[in-house]
Amino acid sequence: MGSANFHDIVGSDAFAFRPAGELPLTDDCRHYEGKHEVPWDIQKYFAQRYSIFSWYDEGVCLTDDAWFGVTPEPVANAIAADLQDSESSKTVLIDAFAGAGGNTIAFALSGRWEHIIAIERDASTLACAQNNSRIYGVDPAMVTWVRGDSFEYFRALINRRHTLHPKLRVDIATTVVFASPPWGGPGYRSDDVFDLRTMQPYNLKQLHDAYSLMDHVLFLPRTSDIRQIARLAPEGRKIPVVQYCMQGASKAMAAYIPATANLGQDGKQASSRIRPASRPDHSENESSPSVENSTRPTQ
Ligand SMILES: C[S@@+](CC[C@H](N)C(=O)[O-])C[C@H]1O[C@@H](n2cnc3c(N)ncnc32)[C@H](O)[C@@H]1O
Repeated sequence: MGSANFHDIVGSDAFAFRPAGELPLTDDCRHYEGKHEVPWDIQKYFAQRYSIFSWYDEGVCLTDDAWFGVTPEPVANAIAADLQDSESSKTVLIDAFAGAGGNTIAFALSGRWEHIIAIERDASTLACAQNNSRIYGVDPAMVTWVRGDSFEYFRALINRRHTLHPKLRVDIATTVVFASPPWGGPGYRSDDVFDLRTMQPYNLKQLHDAYSLMDHVLFLPRTSDIRQIARLAPEGRKIPVVQYCMQGASKAMAAYIPATANLGQDGKQASSRIRPASRPDHSENESSPSVENSTRPTQ
């Protein structure tokens, strides 16, 4: 069945994935104004609210969970700048874990992308992201928000395109994926080198398998084992790994991973150049010949 027919016959509600439309803020979407309102485990993050969202006072909302995972604005802006020079044929960016919108907003404001698809499983968190992107003046036509499981979305994109709303049937050859999954698992806070096989709820293999046909950026804990990342390098390619720092301390690392086999809709191998644009102020290659490790101050 052709995609247009499917759409005409069953209507938009029958698609497994479709644009979320504008979601209402819920009681879980909070804009705390003073420390006295803030749960104790979030107070540390609330104290840093202007580093996280410089426009916080304009009405930025987060769920209590979202405070733990949101990418601070300077880091999100640095990653967006680093993707500025990616292969010009790449026009679509998919943010697989949109959260409260930290990265999606930075990507949208960078002006680099024609279309951004931002996927988030939790409706209240997605409503916060939509609210926050309005505050930052993101053009609503640029971002398609989707509520759902992004792993399911990628499976559908690759195997069952007709089950996606037409707006979500992007060409994987022209698409870059950005993934900032939740971080957790044994040793994530304590180990000097974090074993990405044990990362929860999604480990390195699950993430890489989901996106391997596309250039992708994995946003990972700063202590992640880069030897494990190096093993993902396609034959003859290197994976740039950047540590993003605020006030001299690394907040996280991002690995810029080329597609393994990237066939466009025309069946031809797509070109791929996914490299951070920033000139690293420090670079070392001893840990593995397949990674280029660098450090990037953002503030
Ligand atoms: C670390 S946060 C992302 C933060 C985001 N980059 C930001 O700056 O706000 C991870 C998010 O992924 C969402 N999530 C977890 N599993 C998911 C899945 N399978 N599909 C889509 N979203 C998921 C969580 O609800 C959470 O909001």
